[in-house]
Amino acid sequence: LFAQTNISVNTSNSSTVISKHIYGHFAEHLGHCIYGGFYVGDTSKTIPNTNGVRNDIIDALRKLKIPNLRWPGGCFADTYHWKDGVGPKNKRPEMVNKWWGGVTEDNSFGTHDFLNMCELLGAEPYLAGNVGSGTVQELADWVQYVNFDGKSPMSDWRRQNGREKPWNVKLWGVGNEAWGCGGNMRPEYYADVYRKYATFMSDWEGGGMMKIASGANSADYHWTETLMSQIPLQMLGGVALHHYSVIEWRHKGPATNFSEQQYFATMKSACFMDSLIIKHSAIMDKYDPKKKVALVVDEWGGWYDVEAGTNPGFLYQQNTMRDAMIAGVTLNIFNNHADRVRVANLAQAINVLQAVILTDKEKMILTPTYHVMEMYNVHQNAKLLPVTIKTNDYVLGDDKLQAVWASASKDSLGNTHISLVNIDAKKSQDITVNFDGAQFKSVSGRILTSAKLTDYNSFEQPDKLKPVAFNGATVKGSVLNVKLPPFSVVVLELK
Ligand code: AHR
Repeated sequence: LFAQTNISVNTSNSSTVISKHIYGHFAEHLGHCIYGGFYVGDTSKTIPNTNGVRNDIIDALRKLKIPNLRWPGGCFADTYHWKDGVGPKNKRPEMVNKWWGGVTEDNSFGTHDFLNMCELLGAEPYLAGNVGSGTVQELADWVQYVNFDGKSPMSDWRRQNGREKPWNVKLWGVGNEAWGCGGNMRPEYYADVYRKYATFMSDWEGGGMMKIASGANSADYHWTETLMSQIPLQMLGGVALHHYSVIEWRHKGPATNFSEQQYFATMKSACFMDSLIIKHSAIMDKYDPKKKVALVVDEWGGWYDVEAGTNPGFLYQQNTMRDAMIAGVTLNIFNNHADRVRVANLAQAINVLQAVILTDKEKMILTPTYHVMEMYNVHQNAKLLPVTIKTNDYVLGDDKLQAVWASASKDSLGNTHISLVNIDAKKSQDITVNFDGAQFKSVSGRILTSAKLTDYNSFEQPDKLKPVAFNGATVKGSVLNVKLPPFSVVVLELK
């Protein structure tokens, strides 16, 4: 069963750079993302670690070229008081993690732990400030604590706590989901709150802070319209957007044993990211035609029922070929809108939602999503080559979705890459790609696919799904031919 797809790639118009920050991750104090995930504590005898952070995780994320990491939430961020998480660990107060399982948070992983971990990872930290239950002073103090080089109450305290130089954190979220867990605010009210908080978040060393407003829930265009019209552009670095690939919030369905109908419904929600970005960007264009303000998709990914027997507040789910499809499609969408989407964060890095890594005590596995992020990292900071796709549809019942999703870029070495995703569960694709004018001599690359859409990596079979060399592509001059199997992701390099 083969369907024909034609793609043309514009190789002469490469003015947009795909920001590496589109490939960002998210680590919340939620379930076993931080505790039992990243952080095992520096007393762990069985798990090799650096200052309490697992070495195997550091290695895997460095290999992924993780560009940034958002922390400490999510909903948790608007309950988090950073001053409780610095200084001697045995003196730190405890709190209740109200949103996520009601567990005790002992504050043993705090600001120093996170920012030092980002240095180990080679990732930019993205701090989400507490606007919902914090104060302007508290957030202003946090900025001074982590970013001020001179003498001040906060920077002196940082030095006392063992860190001489500031970390120069550039990415700052001004609250999270202000329309929901961040305070149930109306956008008109939040716009004013944002203006007030942002005023006191000083760019101490002139390091180029990017302040990011808590953005819309999926298709809430009024939210974006209000922020863009009510916040002066010079106060705004980015406007966020959250969209999860979920079938139905009340009936999310299982992460592994799903039907083709459920797969289709998930993919419909994932593909919807394209029209969301187009519409939110069109609103932003009205107020910011020069595209100074970034659209920051700082939460995205698949969301299913938790695995049987796990704490429902911990959002632990397995990760199948379906998740690889979500990642492949979404990252292609982000690449193609790189003129406006300049930061994004997959939810979440470890053991939570669409994780790239799952852990079980000393064991660690890489998910299919990890492999897609790793294959796609060739696009980081490369020049976008715009694509036009003429593809057939993936049809199920009386509904249909675009079957093939692609994006292309040229890196600083002059190599061209194209990432292709066929979401059709049954049909292969016979793809002709025309790189208008460019001449290539060779093509090589890797494919991620599996026998079944529901396949996943488990602790028993950690490498069931992993990318392998792809031999279904040939190139002659400017024309590339690819035979893409059903539900597969392929990334090719052309020289
Ligand atoms: O990622 C899980 C949660 O989803 C985040 O805490 C929140 O921002 C969103 O609703």
